[in-house]
Amino acid sequence: MNNKRPAFGFSTRAIHHGYDPKDHHGALVPPIYLSATFAFPTAEYGAACFAGEASGHFYTRISNPTLALLESRMAALENGEAAVAFSSGMGAIAATFWTLLRPGDEVIVSQTLYGCTFALLHGISEFGIKVRHVDLTDLAALQAALGPATRMIYCETPANPTLRLVDIAAVARLAHQQPNVTVVVDNTYCTPYLQRPLELGADVVVHSATKYLSGHGDITAGIAVSSHAIAQRIRLQGLKDLTGAVMSPQDAALLMRGLKTLALRMDRHCSNAQAVAEALQAHPAVQWVTYPGLASFPQYELAARQMKRSGGMIAFELKGGIDTGRRFMNALKLFTRAVSLGDAESLAQHPASMTHSTYTPEERAQHGISEGLVRLSVGLEDVADLLADVQQALGKCARAVARPTLLAAHAGK
Ligand SMILES: Cc1ncc(COP(=O)(O)O)c(C=O)c1O
Repeated sequence: MNNKRPAFGFSTRAIHHGYDPKDHHGALVPPIYLSATFAFPTAEYGAACFAGEASGHFYTRISNPTLALLESRMAALENGEAAVAFSSGMGAIAATFWTLLRPGDEVIVSQTLYGCTFALLHGISEFGIKVRHVDLTDLAALQAALGPATRMIYCETPANPTLRLVDIAAVARLAHQQPNVTVVVDNTYCTPYLQRPLELGADVVVHSATKYLSGHGDITAGIAVSSHAIAQRIRLQGLKDLTGAVMSPQDAALLMRGLKTLALRMDRHCSNAQAVAEALQAHPAVQWVTYPGLASFPQYELAARQMKRSGGMIAFELKGGIDTGRRFMNALKLFTRAVSLGDAESLAQHPASMTHSTYTPEERAQHGISEGLVRLSVGLEDVADLLADVQQALGKCARAVARPTLLAAHAGK
């Protein structure tokens, strides 16, 4: 974490950090440097750049002025020292794993993770890295799992799609009792506006910036934020050599445009999601609903302590399981049936057959992802329209659930 107190508030940093128009011909919006390579004033300077002895941009897969501005802004928002931009969230996560882990190392990961992160862990385990899934809400279990070969603890909080939380400060405290353990947190669901893991003791924050950070569903992007030393390793190994997953400068510009409204958007996502979660909870067709802003949320106290507000994501299951869940999704008129999250548009999807189909059914059961779980990403539309859409779709499910029950009652007579 960066111990210097930021001079400006969150939105001011999101809009201005690292840029002064007077250095760019007065351009209010930062120019996009569409150049793959950069000229060296002398051959000696070029050699010094390659040797890491001179700073400056020399090839966009390693650094670029537009990417550098975005990276410094993201570091300022997460309260880290430095950041590295990637072409996708999976690029950021893969580069972090490949940089910080070696054959023989162990990584402890939380129970539920985004489907492709789960698949990536299978992939790295084939290269001699041992992956242990541990319930990180159980600190005794974490203590028992930590060993001399542990090099990383990795979690999502809230987890995709179950919304289960990890107490970042408690996990980091335990992890750092041992040397050489890096705590990595996927902060995609919250963004730094709602939660700042580095301030709670984590070492690296990763993001799918495809989601809330960009906020408009028009790019795929990823970010890793950390200390200068770790970021430099991730840049020179994970990004430059091991993945090459560099973000394009145009996407960096779109992402910076998204960041300017991040706080406003997150507040609206949170208010809309709270209203939708409460409507779901009150409806007789709903079996259960999980949302950190509901008093029924099992980790309500931790959510209130660790997150500024409750986010825009909801998980729920209807009576009748996935058959009713599909009927609900197909009945939606305003919510779009689509994966991804954090867009202006409200989205609905079924993790077991979509984002988490990389798990086998047995693995989903083990990792707490029920087959009937429906995931909502609540967008920025007018809340009355969202509630009307959810109510009309639930109405169709309630009738469908009630019908067999009535038939069964008649059959019994
Ligand atoms: C929590 C989380 N982390 C990482 C990713 C991967 O990000 P991307 O799709 O940008 O590669 C996703 C994608 O849905 C996600 O939900």
